[in-house]
Amino acid sequence: MGGQGLFLSAADLQLRRGEAVADTARVFSRYLDGIMTRTFAHADVEELAQHATIPIINGLTDWQHPCQAMGDLMTIREKKGRLAGVKLAYVGDGNNVCHSLLEAGAKFGVHVAVACPPGFEPDPAVVARAQSDAEAHNGRIEILVGNVEAAVVGADAVCTDVWASMGQESEAAAKAAALSAYQVNGSLLALARPDAIFLHCLPAHRGEKVTDSDMDGPHSAVWDQAENRLHLQKALMALVM
Ligand code: NVA
Repeated sequence: MGGQGLFLSAADLQLRRGEAVADTARVFSRYLDGIMTRTFAHADVEELAQHATIPIINGLTDWQHPCQAMGDLMTIREKKGRLAGVKLAYVGDGNNVCHSLLEAGAKFGVHVAVACPPGFEPDPAVVARAQSDAEAHNGRIEILVGNVEAAVVGADAVCTDVWASMGQESEAAAKAAALSAYQVNGSLLALARPDAIFLHCLPAHRGEKVTDSDMDGPHSAVWDQAENRLHLQKALMALVM
């Protein structure tokens, strides 16, 4: 789009030498037209946005993954021709991806059904906000603890994510033990609509959260979903910068 991209890893930033996030925001606001940032702590993105005078795009935090959710909704609309009334089943950890799908889906009238094991539920504050948006936009929010089948039955789209997110590597074994019954495989997808699409924001750990035959099978929309991140983020930059 005629811009110039600049990638700065953690090692390239003065943050690593103790500079305050607010000061980094002030300096970059003098150099750049916008920042997409991928942090761990959500509070860091909020602090960056609070002190910057340029647009800050959340490229993933431990709490939210909004660009992914918007790309996912774009993919569903592309495949199903609509969003209102579409049933989206999210299966797995009530994590950043789950949170953003709940919030974004509710705003577009999607029926978002989340299946997770006890102890892995999405943040109640996110669920409450999604419930209230769903009421306003004729959407529906369901959190089905321990009932993966109910979430997937009749779904137009089935989505899952990694069991251990970035920064949770030390919890990987415990999460795998709790979430192994939440693998998306052929028998689970058979409960969805025959024309259901399968979504995964990647990276996919084949054989764990999802089987090879589902990543590469007729339901899979994961490569279009990956491509749509590109288009969605271009649109987002055009909108805010
Ligand atoms: N929930 C995952 C998403 C990866 C794009 C994570 O935070 O690592």
